Amino acid sequence: MKLKDKVAILTGSTSGMGRATAYLFAREGAKVVICGRNEERAKAVVDKIKSEGFEAMYVIADSSKVEESKILVDKTLEAYGTVDILFNNAGTLSMSSLQDVSLQEWESVFNVNVNSALYLTQMVAPIMKAKGKGVIVNTSSVAGFAAHHGFAAYITSKHAMNGLTKSMAWELGPEIRVNAIAPGAIHTAMVDSIGGPSVLQGMIDNCPLKRVGQPEDIASVALFLASDDSSFIDGQIIKVDGGFEA
Ligand SMILES: NC(=O)c1ccc[n+]([C@@H]2O[C@H](COP(=O)([O-])OP(=O)(O)OC[C@H]3O[C@@H](n4cnc5c(N)ncnc54)[C@H](OP(=O)(O)O)[C@@H]3O)[C@@H](O)[C@H]2O)c1
Repeated sequence: MKLKDKVAILTGSTSGMGRATAYLFAREGAKVVICGRNEERAKAVVDKIKSEGFEAMYVIADSSKVEESKILVDKTLEAYGTVDILFNNAGTLSMSSLQDVSLQEWESVFNVNVNSALYLTQMVAPIMKAKGKGVIVNTSSVAGFAAHHGFAAYITSKHAMNGLTKSMAWELGPEIRVNAIAPGAIHTAMVDSIGGPSVLQGMIDNCPLKRVGQPEDIASVALFLASDDSSFIDGQIIKVDGGFEA
């Protein structure tokens, strides 16, 4: 088991790639803390993990609110006593163009996609530093490397996530390693919200591997980055996009 007895907080784990990562981390021996706003889905994830004989709990929290992130960390410490791994994965999409996006929408995208990673890291880093070891994995996007029409707030937030990842690596080492995953098109609720089958087909056509990724394609890379298998990898943003950005 690669994460035996590690305590892992995973934001955005009620769905999609965060949920797939939670299942994998639990099977690798971690005590996983599921987080999102939807209690029904959070409970279902925990129930499935427990039904397989592994350990999990959930905390309902809106990642964009600093006080709710604090509750997430407090409840984790109350239940499991420490934090070894933080997966800053919660994310929200915005499809507005630069001209149309309101300041309110812009701020709400940044609160979830960037600021929550900052708050949570500020809360758990002292714990990891004190114990001499910790790992943080952030979720960026191929939208953190290239822009196109529309999605202005989302694209800018994911570019910011790349900068935040590098700053974290510099400031939190040597005890804490920090890397990010930049997914391409992964078949989750977020991608389905962009459009129907023709949008999905366009993503497949634009990918050298001629498929969209599955949440498990991200989970396996998150496990690699969270485990000692990647012990000399730090400050990197790893594209997992089927060659889309090649
Ligand atoms: N799918 C893709 O192709 C793709 C590509 C590049 C990057 N990404 C990134 O991957 C990450 C995961 O997305 P996904 O594709 O797995 O989408 P998803 O299935 O829609 O999952 C999004 C997760 O984020 C949580 N979330 C959203 N807003 C939240 C908030 N305010 N507070 C707490 N939790 C919140 C959701 O939980 P609740 O609904 O329970 O609140 C859910 O668990 C995101 O950061 C996304 O930007 C996705």
